[in-house]
Order: sequence, then structure tokens, then C-alpha cells
Amino acid sequence: MAETKISGIVACVFDAYGTLFDVHSAAEKCRGDLGDKADQISNTWRTKQLQYSWLRSLMREYVPFWQVTGEALDFALAEADMENAALREKLMNLYLQLSCYPEVPEVLKTLKDNGLQTGILSNGSREMLDSAVENSALDSVLDASLSVDDVGVFKVDPRVYEMATARFSCAPSEICFMSSNAWDAWAASHFGFQVAWVNRFGQPREHMPGGPSAEIKTLTELPPLLGI
Ligand code: LAC
Repeated sequence: MAETKISGIVACVFDAYGTLFDVHSAAEKCRGDLGDKADQISNTWRTKQLQYSWLRSLMREYVPFWQVTGEALDFALAEADMENAALREKLMNLYLQLSCYPEVPEVLKTLKDNGLQTGILSNGSREMLDSAVENSALDSVLDASLSVDDVGVFKVDPRVYEMATARFSCAPSEICFMSSNAWDAWAASHFGFQVAWVNRFGQPREHMPGGPSAEIKTLTELPPLLGI
């Protein structure tokens, strides 16, 4: 039997981008247009998107993640010398239909079948999350989809993590949180969640307050961590 490392939880809460949904699947589907710049554009797009979210939170200049995502894409296309309105629109539309990682539907179903509540807690704006959930047909295996739009600030502000304890009416330690974004995993743990860091990209550990209870490579390893 697998070792149980996380116990006493009422809900499993997931980061969206990079954890449930593959952010690089948009550029991947546009490889024909982007050519050998596809990986560079995708990586810069994601990096800038996150940087802008942190900077806007510090500046108290919140706008929905959809706008941040578009502005980050503008930077990435300019850096690659590929500014083009039609290409921008195509990539933004693809971002609304990002593929989920292959194990996601089955893992969420297993959690639900074992009596756990499930949710998303994401920087994503409401329309972005609804679209991604619908595109991957995850509605029936998610109890909640929480957007930072409701608090007007991005991760890692504690008000974001508080949305999950409020929604599930529980203590932070009763939430098992999953993120592939190490900075999010560390901050969520610092807030008090039990955290499984989904280290999909083989990254080194962060040097920040907090730290995950477990490190896994894909979400397939989650149910055994919970003794399921
Ligand atoms: C999210 C980003 C941080 O979904 O991945 O919140």
C-alpha cells in the first residue's frame, strides 16, 4: 500500500494553469505559424504573464488575468519580432481552450468517488476558467472554480488562498492544494494548506517561506498520497 503523507483533508484544490491545463498547448497548436519561435514565444508569454500578475498586485493595479495574458503575449510577440493582430487573436482564442493534462479527468473522478470535494483556485478570470473547464468536460468532477476576480488581487496574496477556506468552510490545513508552479506551492503552504507540488518540469526547490508536504511528478501520484 502506498504511504499516506497527507491526511485530515476535506477538499483537494488545484491551481489551473500548468497544473490542470497545459499552457504551452496554445503555441503548440500554432507551431505552423510560429515556426522555430514557438517555444521562445510560449515561454516568454508564460513568464511575462506571471511577472505582470505579481507586479500589478504590488502596484495595486489589478485587471483581469485575460488582459494580463494579452499584454504578456504582446511582449512575447514583439520580442520574437512577430507582431501580428491575426496571430495574436488566434493564440488568445487557443488560450481559452487549453488542453488539460491527460491524467486530470480520471484523478478528479477518483477523488470525488472517494468523498472528497474538489476545486480550482486560480488567477484566471472567470470566463477563462469556465471556458477551460467546459473545453475539457471537467464540470461534473469539480465542486468549485474560484477566480481571483472575486478578491481583485493575484496570487500570492493570502486573500486568494482564503477564498478556498471560505468556500469549503474549513481550516487551511484541511485543504490539500496542488500546483506545478513552485512559487504557488510554497506560498500556499506558507498560508497553511497541505501542499503537493506537481513538479512536472523537474525544477529545483524554491528558497521561500513554506514548503510542500510532498513532491509528485504528475497528478496520477496524488490519490496514493491521500491513501486512496
Ligand atoms: C493560476 C496560475 C498561477 O492558475 O497558474 O493561478
